[in-house]
Amino acid sequence: MSGLARTFGLARYESHPSAGADGLVALEMAEGGRRSDYIPYTNRPLGWHTDGYYRCDGPDGLIRSVVLHCHRPAGEGGENGWLDHEIAYIRLRDADPDLIGALMHPAAMTIPADAAGPESRHRPSIGPVFAVDGAGRLAMRFSARKRNVAWRDDAKTRAAAAMLDHVLAEEPLVLRFRLDAGEGVIGNNVLHHRLAFAPAAAGTAGRLLYRLRSYDCIATGDAAP
Ligand SMILES: [Fe+2]
Repeated sequence: MSGLARTFGLARYESHPSAGADGLVALEMAEGGRRSDYIPYTNRPLGWHTDGYYRCDGPDGLIRSVVLHCHRPAGEGGENGWLDHEIAYIRLRDADPDLIGALMHPAAMTIPADAAGPESRHRPSIGPVFAVDGAGRLAMRFSARKRNVAWRDDAKTRAAAAMLDHVLAEEPLVLRFRLDAGEGVIGNNVLHHRLAFAPAAAGTAGRLLYRLRSYDCIATGDAAP
């Protein structure tokens, strides 16, 4: 997977507490333990988000791309929805450019500290939802989990968050796809979610996806290696 990712220009990979030596994280149902406290390691639905939303170290410290490979699908469920975050940006800007201004505020969205999580999450993560990097590319940091997010206490910010929820519920350009064994996704860190899936039947192996995350965007055009 990392070899494939490199051909798309991804060179800097996240070090994740659940990653193996090859940098891959196995996404499957955890049998108890701390990981089972985190929705990605359960069979519950995973709401709209961008990966790594709980960290904010400036645009260069954000997760910018994600590679997913399905090793085993669930017997039922587990479909993903995908929406290019640039489309969400356009919808909000078209509705009211001030909504974009609110979500680019450096304190637009706060993710509370997770004292039980890895050290990088022991302090709140405060930052914008939309940010533009030095190359002029749009990055997004977002989670739809109400319990996980404290929005800046400001009318425009609240309106922008509500508009984002509306776009994610109604947008016709959302791509919906259920990965089968051997299938995968490689792309920039766009908005995505996952539906619930059936746990493995007794005596069988459950849904297993491998994930790799990078601080680099997918290379395009003449810049592709
Ligand atoms: Fe994700």
